[in-house]
Amino acid sequence: MTVASMLGEIGAIGADATRGGYSRPGYCAVDRELREWFEGHAIRRGLDVERDANGIVWAWWRPPGTTGPAIVTGSHLDSVPGGGGYDGPLGVASALAAIDLLKSMALPRPIGIAVFPEEEGSRFGVACLGSRLLTGAIAPERALALKDAEGDTFADAAARDGLDPARMGADPASLAGIGAFVELHVEQGRGLVDLGHPVAVASSILGHGRWRVSVDGQGNHAGTTLMQGRRDPVVAAASMILAIRDLARATPDARATVGRLEPVPGGTNVIASRVDFWIDLRHPDDLVTAALVTRVRDLVDVIALAEGCTATVREESLSPTVDFDLGLRRQLRAALPDAPELGTGAGHDAGVLAGHLPTAMLFVRNPTGVSHSPEELCEDADAEAGAVALAQVLGDLARA
Ligand code: GLV
Ligand code: MN
Ligand code: MN
Ligand code: MN
Repeated sequence: MTVASMLGEIGAIGADATRGGYSRPGYCAVDRELREWFEGHAIRRGLDVERDANGIVWAWWRPPGTTGPAIVTGSHLDSVPGGGGYDGPLGVASALAAIDLLKSMALPRPIGIAVFPEEEGSRFGVACLGSRLLTGAIAPERALALKDAEGDTFADAAARDGLDPARMGADPASLAGIGAFVELHVEQGRGLVDLGHPVAVASSILGHGRWRVSVDGQGNHAGTTLMQGRRDPVVAAASMILAIRDLARATPDARATVGRLEPVPGGTNVIASRVDFWIDLRHPDDLVTAALVTRVRDLVDVIALAEGCTATVREESLSPTVDFDLGLRRQLRAALPDAPELGTGAGHDAGVLAGHLPTAMLFVRNPTGVSHSPEELCEDADAEAGAVALAQVLGDLARA
């Protein structure tokens, strides 16, 4: 079965008629449907399927005679709101296709597929929640207290999704069973389009983090309140967002984005009493990121004061810049001699795992160069080339 036809089977799950594309948050009914699709494919291929205490789904191909730490691939099935159909699912479908290509070979090591929940953090705010729990990068107590936009805690959502919150947390034994992890992902920029190649080996992931800014002012009537003397947190937030944009523009290689903003109560004829907005900030040098955050905290304070408001800045997640394992990269480049090496500005579970085991990634060409948008694309032939490259890499690593 081709990668494209597998992705076609989930084409209606989580489709978002309002935003376009897909909205597939983690630990919910949509997530369960996607999970069941994956589990069905894995079981039909004779893989052993299990869902661990953190909600990660693992599928194992362990024919008799295989020993030693497994070679694991995989990705995620959740999406950002209104996201594309390839960011995550391409890696999962390619993993299944790679198993099909490897099935007839007698490999000495087991092969695994991992499907990580809530990679985008679009429901509970923390990106790569599943892999962070697995590695201990987030304490379960902190994770369980996270809330979604409806005010549901992660603890309640996880329990409703069939998990036991008391059992969540780091699982070093499971990590110790993995010899190497290779995630295949659609490219989220134009690198491969410009180079004219279908597949690349990843070199690095840009350091990135998320900060929630809450600005409090004075809620009031839009018609009876004079412009002078207002304490409007939305106006303060607008100045802050422009200042953050200017700061990032003035800092080589920095990227700052505010893509989510929630005024309270959110009425057309109401001066808001509060607004929350989220900053996504990225830079290759972790020291520069830290300095930028200090500057952001200062400018938020100064602007809030000037607008008669108060503001707080809270870190939601922070991931240092990752350089993928050099030895593994060398092995991937030997398996795929034509593939260029490319870095990425997007975050991945592979980046979280990289601190714990040899980790690498493959990128597959995205002709639009656009991601986190319905315009994200992967041609069928490139998806097949990606699966073949992944099978080649997994096979070589399993024999090494
Ligand atoms: C996830 O895709 C991210 O980089 O934000
Ligand atoms: Mn992704
Ligand atoms: Mn993404
Ligand atoms: Mn991602």
